[in-house]
Amino acid sequence: MESLELNTSGKIVVNGPQTAKGDIYISGSKNAVLPIMAACLLTDEKITLDNVPDLADVSTMIDILESAGKVVDRIEDKLIITSTSLEDFEIPYEPVRKMRASFNVFGPLTIKMKKAKVALPGGCSIGVRPVNFHLEGLKKLGIESKIEHGFALSKFNGAEKEVNISLKFPSVGATEHIITTATLIYGTKTIISNCAMEPEISDLIDFLNAMGADIIGKNTSTITINGVDKLHGLNYRVIPDRIEAGTYAIMGALIGDNLTIHNICYDDLRILFSTFDDIGINYELNKEEKTLKISKIKNNNLNNVILKTEPYPGFPTDLQPQISVLLSLIKGKSTITETIFKSRFNHIDELNRMGANIRLEDNTAIIDGVDKLTGAPIEATDLRASAALLIAGLLAEGETIISNVDHIFRGYEKLEEKLNKMGLKMTYID
Ligand code: EPU
Repeated sequence: MESLELNTSGKIVVNGPQTAKGDIYISGSKNAVLPIMAACLLTDEKITLDNVPDLADVSTMIDILESAGKVVDRIEDKLIITSTSLEDFEIPYEPVRKMRASFNVFGPLTIKMKKAKVALPGGCSIGVRPVNFHLEGLKKLGIESKIEHGFALSKFNGAEKEVNISLKFPSVGATEHIITTATLIYGTKTIISNCAMEPEISDLIDFLNAMGADIIGKNTSTITINGVDKLHGLNYRVIPDRIEAGTYAIMGALIGDNLTIHNICYDDLRILFSTFDDIGINYELNKEEKTLKISKIKNNNLNNVILKTEPYPGFPTDLQPQISVLLSLIKGKSTITETIFKSRFNHIDELNRMGANIRLEDNTAIIDGVDKLTGAPIEATDLRASAALLIAGLLAEGETIISNVDHIFRGYEKLEEKLNKMGLKMTYID
């Protein structure tokens, strides 16, 4: 299957202010499906995944699975992954360079093939993103690795009967990578402490347990994995994307007119709703029907907030650029401290070009609310910054041209179609 190349010259043009109404449906979670797809390397049996978003990152992971010998068919939102056995233990630089989550195949490939050679992911516009926690954890599992010519090379030497891994930081990727790898180390009990607890990790654990794994401690910071000797095929439905949902919820708070968002998982977004409560934003949530109805904030009698991004259940870094847009329009001073990716602030200068008043002090954005934003030519630098700038463009007066915007297709499925359904207009220029 062809990977969707990221053509960084793409532009989105929007004319504001616009109003978002009607109904919108949240897609399957990108950050849940990617590690689940990596875990598919652990079985030769057929796996069918439902609710898989059609995104550039998913296409990249398909390329990676195919280069390892899997056959992947896509039918609408279903992925059917088959193989009789894996063919290759080497994953080239080309797909890996596009997406850091691709490194999560390193451990599973090593366990299945006894060795692996996977390109190391390169730099990233949201900051330095090393894989040291991954490699240190895998080492405890008996996977010896070295870096040569841009590749990580591994050899599996066998693991001890009991392995204890304490993560220095609750890294999402390292938690997922180590859990997945340990699952198929038969006879070894692995205890990981200081784990990340993001909902995508719980989804991965549900998926692995449904394949026959023995993993205890879901939703907690200590996870125990009793290695099994075989994992089997299954049908599995991926959870809805909480970051896509959060992005559209913030959009609704800024330009909504009874915008109704479906497939919203309240539990996964508690922190966003409590932030809305603190600010004084009204919304109607129906937890049973999983819907959120939200309209644009009407008065400027809202409260400033002091926010800090943190590992789950704290405020997600993946909603920090989007909430910055919202806070830039609330009178008075709000702050956001970014503790996960300390330099994830590339959107700030662009928002200031649109009339926002935000300055940076180390990893804290100090936001002085303004009355309005005005359209301007601006540049996106990464996925979530693109989403934030699109929201800003939709609410600003006049024309906004967002260049370098193709990052957005890595994380927002059917973007133009969904915007059109909400009555919003954008023009994409290739
Ligand atoms: N870190 C290390 N060493 C490691 C791993 C991480 O120092 O070996 C550091 C990172 O540099 C970062 C912090 O730990 O400062 C947290 O990184 P984490 O490993 O938790 O992030 P990730 O697994 O690389 C996932 C999401 C990101 C999301 C972060 C944080 C996927 C595919 N990606 O990345 O999503 O921002 O967790 O929640 O799940 C996005 O969707 O836009 C996105 C960037």
